[in-house]
Amino acid sequence: MKNILIIGSTGQIGSELTMKLRGMYNGNIVAGYIPGAEPNETIRESGPCAIVDITNEQQIAETVSRYKIDTIYNLAALLSAVAEAKPQLAWKIGMGGLFNVLEVARAMNCAVFTPSSIGVFGNNTPKDKTPQDTIRNPRTMYGVTKVSGELLSDYYHIRFGVDTRSVRFPGLISYVTPPGGGTTDYAVDIYYSAAKGETFECPIAQGTFMDMMYMPDALRAAVEIMEADPSKFIHRNSFNIASMSFEPEIIYNKIKEYEPDFKMVYNVDPLRQAIADSWPNSLDDTCAREEWGWKPEYDLDAMTRDMLAKLKEKFGK
Ligand code: SER
Repeated sequence: MKNILIIGSTGQIGSELTMKLRGMYNGNIVAGYIPGAEPNETIRESGPCAIVDITNEQQIAETVSRYKIDTIYNLAALLSAVAEAKPQLAWKIGMGGLFNVLEVARAMNCAVFTPSSIGVFGNNTPKDKTPQDTIRNPRTMYGVTKVSGELLSDYYHIRFGVDTRSVRFPGLISYVTPPGGGTTDYAVDIYYSAAKGETFECPIAQGTFMDMMYMPDALRAAVEIMEADPSKFIHRNSFNIASMSFEPEIIYNKIKEYEPDFKMVYNVDPLRQAIADSWPNSLDDTCAREEWGWKPEYDLDAMTRDMLAKLKEKFGK
């Protein structure tokens, strides 16, 4: 039996991960949320929910104690473009929040999963097949909190024996909950436009490659790393994982194979473009494959077929 607390259970990853974990385990799978981001009916009616503000250490501790939590999925964060608009809040949630989670985990013996990101890399990082262990010098607040979070999570493991684990997610694509405020969001929005039969205005310039992943693979990564035998771990915080890399023309042309009338125009957003330019074109995920058996299942074609089918169903098209 496992008792899990998901902090940020109503967000892009949390809304789907909560339901996946409830389908897998019999224990208390607690959906933590903040007022203003209440759980939907599916989450509310399938298991316990609790108000857990990551900036409130006591609230986390009380929930962990009440539900005998052994594993915390720490999914609270501001994505990259929003974090640039609100850097102080991004630090408070990303670092202050992580510190609270780690302190509770240390005192109450919980394992902790915290997503990291391709955002830990910066302009000086090798761009193609970016290695696991390389320069991490981002110039965004999002990246700064993710690098610092990786270091702090490793520190808590080495110093206090807290079972901290993490993966560096690429841009995540899903038809369920929109991301809201990331640099890679265009790769979600483009499917919404295609499914609705609208022209897509692309905020990222032609030729800008970034790593992306379909949500089912990302959820599997989050579960599999926490299930993995840690005796094979050389790394912990955090593992490069990858499944596909593309630039706007590639995804546009892929969608056109299924929606021949689909149109895209460019209207580049300088903030998001600068962030995208500082991120890798593609990651090398050999260490994740070797240390815990990571393997993606979806490529661009499989993802495109599924996204378009699910979104057209959603919009009655
Ligand atoms: N999807 C995130 C963002 O664009 C990257 O981890 O901010």
